[in-house]
Amino acid sequence: MTTVASNVELAITPLTGTTGAEIRGVSLREPLPPATVADIAQALFEYKVIFFPEQHLSTDEHFALAAQFGEITEGHPTSAADKGRFGLNEINYSERRKAYAGRQDPARKPRRDGWHTDVTFMETPPAISILNALIMPERGGDTVFANTQAAYEGLSAPFREFLDGLVAVHSGEESFGEQIRANGYGEWDGERFTELRPVEHPVVRTHPETGKRCLFVNPEFTSHIKGFSRRESDGILELLYQHMVDQRYLVRYDWQAGDLGFWDNRATMHLVVIDYGAQHRVIQRVTVKGERPY
Ligand SMILES: [Fe+2]
Repeated sequence: MTTVASNVELAITPLTGTTGAEIRGVSLREPLPPATVADIAQALFEYKVIFFPEQHLSTDEHFALAAQFGEITEGHPTSAADKGRFGLNEINYSERRKAYAGRQDPARKPRRDGWHTDVTFMETPPAISILNALIMPERGGDTVFANTQAAYEGLSAPFREFLDGLVAVHSGEESFGEQIRANGYGEWDGERFTELRPVEHPVVRTHPETGKRCLFVNPEFTSHIKGFSRRESDGILELLYQHMVDQRYLVRYDWQAGDLGFWDNRATMHLVVIDYGAQHRVIQRVTVKGERPY
């Protein structure tokens, strides 16, 4: 029989005026009482990204934790199971650096400085991403998160109204097409596919838990807004991207190995700060299944 701790009192420290909180006072190693799962989910929906320092979870514990918050998805559409484990997405930034060395073409990525929301190029992007920081650089390698609900609410009423009915096209082709072709296929929601077809999502989505409206475009995967000329679409998106990374909507987190972070993928975008040179950085990520954005 598994024992479940009771009366967990979360010690929540908000990190900025709008976004991010650090939570102590709970061990995520053991199964959580349902009330604590609900409290953590509530904190996530309020702060958009929450960090639990010094948890040091094993991969098994990480999966057991994630399963308490929903159904676990494929690790990534390009790799359903890292290390043979369905749902695991392990990113070893040293290996990735090696793989990309010599392929860096600065002209290829005019807009893509790394800001993205996970897997928006699929019809059902994950709801929640849960990250286990395994190896972190001594200095650098922070992640910056942007609160896309606060960004939406920070726009003027007429501009919000203008955006409300718009539809954007998202594509993973530029980032992952080559990988899909090299693997021969990808997998998402239990289905195999052989090419990354563009998908459509609303520019402003409604959060299924809070009912709040959030901007849902990102520089990595959003190719254009439907029905507009290229110039119009680029102009609107550029304006939104500049607005979304306004300091008021951001939190920057300096991970230590052993920290665990949850982000609400429906209400955020994020970027890894690539300022750690040749230092090692390894993370494991597990994602919880999301709905079709509406
Ligand atoms: Fe990401």
